[in-house]
Amino acid sequence: MKIALMLATGFAMVAAPALAQTGPIETRQALMKANGRDAKAGGDMLKGVIPFDATKAQAIFKSMNDVARSFGQHFPAGSQTGGDTEAAPSIWAKPAEFKAALAKFEKDTAAAMAAKPTTLAAFGQQFGMVAQNCKTCHETFRIKK
Ligand code: HEC
Repeated sequence: MKIALMLATGFAMVAAPALAQTGPIETRQALMKANGRDAKAGGDMLKGVIPFDATKAQAIFKSMNDVARSFGQHFPAGSQTGGDTEAAPSIWAKPAEFKAALAKFEKDTAAAMAAKPTTLAAFGQQFGMVAQNCKTCHETFRIKK
């Protein structure tokens, strides 16, 4: 009896995170975590913590552009709450505006890629333009917990 219970509990503990990883909340948060890592890498270059690298700069914009194109697919009905989501109700209340914010993020990251900055100053200009999107969207569509 005791062993059976332990087995059952152990199974539940293994199964729960596996399910959670495939859910829309975890998926969209993972995409944003990548955004966060990329933004930090860009900020570190600008602060001189790590040396400027044009290839890395391009990879940052590319990865953010990928996020911009897929992020909107992970907000199905029923994922408004749950997990530790910080998605604001406005995403579902104003879907057109949320879509527009994502489209702008996609456009700006594409423009930054097309600019192919080869100097730190040029990178800083593109990065600043791109990073404005983070702030603007979070103000309306992300709740602070
Ligand atoms: C179009 C809207 C939008 C844009 C643009 C955007 N975000 Fe987000 N971000 C969100 C939403 C919505 C959440 C909350 C997701 C959730 O918890 O379900 C979020 C969450 C996050 C999180 C927390 C992830 C976690 O759960 O650990 C980080 C970090 C983040 N964003 C960074 C960024 C950075 C950096 C940028 C810009 C490069 C950016 N975001 C651009 C909408 C956006």
